Amino acid sequence: MGLKKEITLIGSTGLIGSHFLNSLKISDYRNVNAITRHKISNLENKNLIKQSVQDFSDLEKMRPHLKIDVLVNAFGTTLKKAGSKKEFMKIDHDLPLEISRIAKEEGCRTMILISSTRANSKSKLFYSRVKGLLEKSILDIGFEELHIIRPSLLLGKRSESRPAEYITKLIMETLSFIIPWEYKPIHASTIADTIHCLIKVKMSGVHIWEGKKLFELQKHI
Ligand SMILES: NC(=O)c1ccc[n+]([C@@H]2O[C@H](COP(=O)([O-])OP(=O)(O)OC[C@H]3O[C@@H](n4cnc5c(N)ncnc54)[C@H](OP(=O)(O)O)[C@@H]3O)[C@@H](O)[C@H]2O)c1
Repeated sequence: MGLKKEITLIGSTGLIGSHFLNSLKISDYRNVNAITRHKISNLENKNLIKQSVQDFSDLEKMRPHLKIDVLVNAFGTTLKKAGSKKEFMKIDHDLPLEISRIAKEEGCRTMILISSTRANSKSKLFYSRVKGLLEKSILDIGFEELHIIRPSLLLGKRSESRPAEYITKLIMETLSFIIPWEYKPIHASTIADTIHCLIKVKMSGVHIWEGKKLFELQKHI
């Protein structure tokens, strides 16, 4: 195997996923697979990216796209969009966990998981608990290299409207200088750059990127 890596991204149409795909340099990767529910038509790097449209009802169909070096998980929803806690658990925990298991079975050594600030499997807050449970389950899979990225509120332009998120963003952006590091909003493009950086380095073991460390990644790799 050459030095360039083959990667698969789930959550390719999301805020982080689309920033990641649009900012990747063709020469950096051997291959990039983007698993989506619907074809993305406006990709800047179309020729390098292999799109695989899946309905996520039978994850085994993804197996051929999970024989890779690195799996990037930028997958998830909101409680409002999911409609129920059960559905949220399925989308934010069960599906990405099963996809990660298949990737490990297929020999994938590195996983980059976008989680969330305050992720904690014992949290009283449902969202934080689900994020923590996913982290824990993925840790148990035993990837040789696991990077867990824990952003706070994501900045960036969304096609859908999320009014509560928009108002929080306005307040947090203005007050960013007094907000503790772990709650500071971060631009989706910064997370995309972080993912590109982490794919390039070799750092065996489990690494959690949160708070100030997430903003100052370059100092730590
Ligand atoms: N938003 C924030 O401020 C924030 C803060 C901290 C952490 N995070 C976490 O960071 C990760 C990425 O966030 P984001 O805001 O970039 O995500 P996003 O814009 O909401 O995109 C989520 C992605 O997941 C896919 N997806 C959702 N439900 C699906 C389903 N049932 N079947 C198949 N695909 C499905 C979406 O595909 P479609 O386009 O087909 O729907 C999309 O590609 C998530 O895990 C999120 O919880 C977000």
